[in-house]
Amino acid sequence: MKSFKFQTTSSILSEVGSTGKIGQLMTDLGCQKVAFVTDSLILELGLATAALDSLKAAGITVYIIDDVVADPPEAMIRAAVEQAKSEGIDGVVSVGGGSSMDTAKLISVLARPDRPQDLDEMYGVDMVKGGRLPLILAPTTAGTGSEVTPISIVTTRTSEKKGVVSAQLYPDWAILDAELTIGLPAHVTAATGIDAMVHAIEAYTTKHAKNILSDTLARQALQLLGGAIHKACTQGEDREARSDMLLGSMLAGMAFANAPVAAVHALAYPLGGHFHVPHGLSNALVLPHVLEFNMEDDLAASQYSEIAPIIFPELKDKSNAEICSSMVQGFKDLGPDLGMKSTLREVGVNHNDLPMLAEDSMKQTRLLVNNPREMTYDAALAIYTAAL
Ligand SMILES: NC(=O)c1ccc[n+]([C@@H]2O[C@H](COP(=O)([O-])OP(=O)(O)OC[C@H]3O[C@@H](n4cnc5c(N)ncnc54)[C@H](O)[C@@H]3O)[C@@H](O)[C@H]2O)c1
Ligand SMILES: [Fe+2]
Repeated sequence: MKSFKFQTTSSILSEVGSTGKIGQLMTDLGCQKVAFVTDSLILELGLATAALDSLKAAGITVYIIDDVVADPPEAMIRAAVEQAKSEGIDGVVSVGGGSSMDTAKLISVLARPDRPQDLDEMYGVDMVKGGRLPLILAPTTAGTGSEVTPISIVTTRTSEKKGVVSAQLYPDWAILDAELTIGLPAHVTAATGIDAMVHAIEAYTTKHAKNILSDTLARQALQLLGGAIHKACTQGEDREARSDMLLGSMLAGMAFANAPVAAVHALAYPLGGHFHVPHGLSNALVLPHVLEFNMEDDLAASQYSEIAPIIFPELKDKSNAEICSSMVQGFKDLGPDLGMKSTLREVGVNHNDLPMLAEDSMKQTRLLVNNPREMTYDAALAIYTAAL
């Protein structure tokens, strides 16, 4: 049997109303004063109320950090860490999307009293030294899967999206409460849902660390996500669809935490960094074109043929070549079907920007090494041109 390594968040609670148990769980972790990391919309919508009430009921002092913005910028994270440190917090909780959870993860390692490192020294794989403060994450999007990944994505001063990838960033608890996602607007449901699908697809076709567990999780994630995404977008109050999306995004997160994502993400990041295109939408815009490029590799084509019928059941009995080309068309149609933009032009990119995007995507070496087919500057430029 091929050897492999698999890690994930050690404790998971999936239950309606489970954010109301966060106070007790933080007490069990020995915390008395926690930073509560979220964004202002989440607070306004009341999605954090049950968690905040439970922390107060447990006698825990809460310091709220609610100025998280999408694609967390380095400066925002540094300021949040300084606030948390000066308050003397001993634990971190986040109820929010990937941006809030990623920020919370970094606060948990950077706001330790004995912090030996600066954020700059943590970028890359396994660069974080020492431990972290107790950490609980509850996602409100479905999603990034950040609650079960060892990853935080940061937007640097130069608009580059960089990752901190270290096992310390797995939280103590992932809390899944699908009720929190009921009010997620259709366009955010669609974009974040496609992000989750891309996590599963890229994990299944990743070049080096693919294994039986990541494969099983990716397949089951695609089953749940593919079966629920239309309903979650059109009938947002459907609890079964919301629950399937949240579970699917977590399973996809578990898969790609161990079998890392590749060129779809590498080409999506510059769109987020430079044009502030939401992460899921930027993935959706380049996805069919990267698939078309990768399909030229025989192994990738056969792997795509294994998973495409899970998302598009009508492809079940077709040949591999038919499945691959129909899958590409299926993804070209899916975005607009779900009401999403489908070209780079629609998000403000023009022809002259493409060389800069292609150049920037080449910096994502951490991801590109996982792509089933070697990605060059010229190939990236051709993909952006096709996506324009
Ligand atoms: N750590 C990881 O493993 C990982 C994986 C993929 C992406 N990411 C990163 O995560 C970030 C994207 O996270 P995201 O897609 O979850 O979005 P997000 O956290 O940026 O939130 C997007 C918007 O949706 C709103 N929102 C969130 N939940 C809501 C709800 N239930 N109801 C109404 N509005 C809600 C937020 O207020 C925000 O305005 C990016 O920075 C991306 O790079 C991280
Ligand atoms: Fe992603």
